[in-house]
Amino acid sequence: MESLISLVNKLQRACTALGDHGEENALPTLWDSLPTIAVVGGQSSGKSSVLESIVGKDFLPRGSGIVTRRPLVLQLHKIDGEREYAEFMHLPRKRFTDFGLVRKEIQDETDRETGRTKQISPVPIHLSIYSPNVVNLTLIDLPGLTKVAVEGQPDSVVADIENMVRSYIEKPNCIILAISPANQDLATSDAIKMSREVDPKGERTFGVLTKIDLMDKGTDAVDILEGRSYRLQYPWIGIVNRSQADINKNVDMIAARRREKEYFANTPEYKHLAHRMGSEHLGKILSKHLEQVIKSRIPGIQSLINKTIAELEGELNRLGKPIAADAGGKLYAIVEICRIFDQIYKEHLDGVRPGGEKV
Ligand code: GDP
Ligand code: NA
Ligand code: MG
Repeated sequence: MESLISLVNKLQRACTALGDHGEENALPTLWDSLPTIAVVGGQSSGKSSVLESIVGKDFLPRGSGIVTRRPLVLQLHKIDGEREYAEFMHLPRKRFTDFGLVRKEIQDETDRETGRTKQISPVPIHLSIYSPNVVNLTLIDLPGLTKVAVEGQPDSVVADIENMVRSYIEKPNCIILAISPANQDLATSDAIKMSREVDPKGERTFGVLTKIDLMDKGTDAVDILEGRSYRLQYPWIGIVNRSQADINKNVDMIAARRREKEYFANTPEYKHLAHRMGSEHLGKILSKHLEQVIKSRIPGIQSLINKTIAELEGELNRLGKPIAADAGGKLYAIVEICRIFDQIYKEHLDGVRPGGEKV
């Protein structure tokens, strides 16, 4: 059985194919109706590190200062077999098996859009990773929130980043991964400030606390992790990512995950929480959650797509025969979308469509 998330990933790509052929209004609506997870937090709070831990691979530009300067839409596809590879939407048919080159391409593609400056751009980079070791997920890495512009940036950059982040997380279908570092006061967390603004009841925000290993001696994060400091509907998750020294020493991801597990299991304050801490657990609960959200939204997504298809059919009728090449592409995308929906209903929704009609 193909997972619901991977079917929706296919749906996203088929919708993009429709949009590529000039369907200007339909595309944003369809995109907005598909649930996604966006990673939000201050600069150097550990966003990219958390994403890498979920994927289990080193592939993101990381470090101090503003590194992530364009949104990165990351689709994870679980596949059978041993081979792992990555593909960018702007480089179709090119397979990356060296993840160091993936990192370089993200940097180069960022520079292509922004110049080699510290400027930011809202134009996303689309990256797919195929691996037997990932859970099916779509995640969006966003530039870090900041309080001051640095040399080479216009003063407007602080507000520009805020607006870009808000444009993603204000959508009701966006699940927010709010990253706060444990070595700073939670009251000053950019992630909490932004997510509270768009999701005041914490109904679609997952609180992630990084850098627990860097807290001052004699302090701990138990009040936060047990939900007493800032209440969210879902439990907080504590993380210990690799430090900069670990990265410089090339500590690999597997070793880092094992050490993270040991950290929570062997620290007396966190022992009782260990089963729901760490990157691996975070990946699993996000995948499960995304799956549930998609299930509840499918009927709504389908009616939107039906509307789009009706519009396209009208357009095709106006064009008349013979069907032009780009119209043929649209038809193909429509057939593909219908096929994916059939599969979704058959495999995940007991074969019954919203109207009660059987697939
Ligand atoms: P981003 O700017 O939010 O994407 O943050 P990065 O993931 O690039 O991390 C910034 C720096 O903090 C890097 O040097 C990381 O190694 C370090 N870092 C991130 N998370 C942790 C953590 O949990 N523990 C420790 N010790 N260092 C961390
Ligand atoms: Na950074
Ligand atoms: Mg980053």
